[in-house]
Amino acid sequence: MIKGQFERANELIATFRSRMDEPLKAWQGRLRVGVDLGTANVVVAVVDETGQPVAGALKPAQVVRDGLVVDYAGAVNIVRRLVENLRVTLGAELLTAATAVPPGTGDRDSRATRYVVESAELQVVNVVDEPTAASAVLGVRDGAVVDVGGGTTGISILKEGEVVYTADEPTGGTHFTLVLSGHYGLPFSEAEAMKLDPGRQPELLPLVRPVMEKVAAIVRRHLEGWDVPTVYLVGGAFSFHGFVDVMQRQLDVPVLCPVEPLLVTPLGIALCCPAG
Ligand SMILES: Nc1ncnc2c1ncn2[C@@H]1O[C@H](COP(=O)(O)OP(=O)(O)OP(=O)(O)O)[C@@H](O)[C@H]1O
Ligand SMILES: [Mg+2]
Repeated sequence: MIKGQFERANELIATFRSRMDEPLKAWQGRLRVGVDLGTANVVVAVVDETGQPVAGALKPAQVVRDGLVVDYAGAVNIVRRLVENLRVTLGAELLTAATAVPPGTGDRDSRATRYVVESAELQVVNVVDEPTAASAVLGVRDGAVVDVGGGTTGISILKEGEVVYTADEPTGGTHFTLVLSGHYGLPFSEAEAMKLDPGRQPELLPLVRPVMEKVAAIVRRHLEGWDVPTVYLVGGAFSFHGFVDVMQRQLDVPVLCPVEPLLVTPLGIALCCPAG
């Protein structure tokens, strides 16, 4: 990918971040919605017909595990509330949406995700796989997308815009928190709060580095034998300062991590909702 394209992607993601606090007041055409049901967060993104980010909302929640809806009623509740709030804030109808599932998710599990989104009175017009959504933002045609979220590490290799290889491994940001929780003898929620404090991250890095190295080793193994020019790092776990460096040291391929890696897939899902 040419550098300009990555910079444009970063601008788009930064714009989406600021629209989550301050929604756009005027937009073009029909609004399109993306719903990301993650292990750690439910995120709703709204873009206009031209792909301009308009608004967004996020709620930490444990309603999904590895792409599987484990708390259906909880998921319905959260999605309904987030979408309803966005309708009120924007004073607009939100009619159609896209959602995403990890690659290789079977029909039955994709259907559960679709039903959750439909419960918010949204017509689901597209169900994409997560790396495809992320690449809609990043403009990746050739390379690997590595998504380290709360519960899992998703590895996808793209060739000429098509996903040609995928893998999912059960290690993510939650495991960083578990290490800290064990080390300090703190409940999970307190360890999570400590991890999210950017001021604490330099002193915590040596404790979580072994888990980061494990993730990097997993990724390295999956990339073996593939001709991958660049590895794109997305997912909230990469917000931990130092993780991107650990990845770069372990991989022979250049890595690129956009601003706000947590928001890439949700924004991409909205962009995958067809206009009109
Ligand atoms: N500023 C931050 N510093 C460190 N970690 C962070 C930060 N922000 C978010 N995280 C971590 O990122 C993870 C959530 O990322 P994300 O929202 O991408 O996951 P998800 O999509 O819900 O999960 P998955 O993709 O595994 O289903 C959590 O483990 C959270 O602790
Ligand atoms: Mg995710």
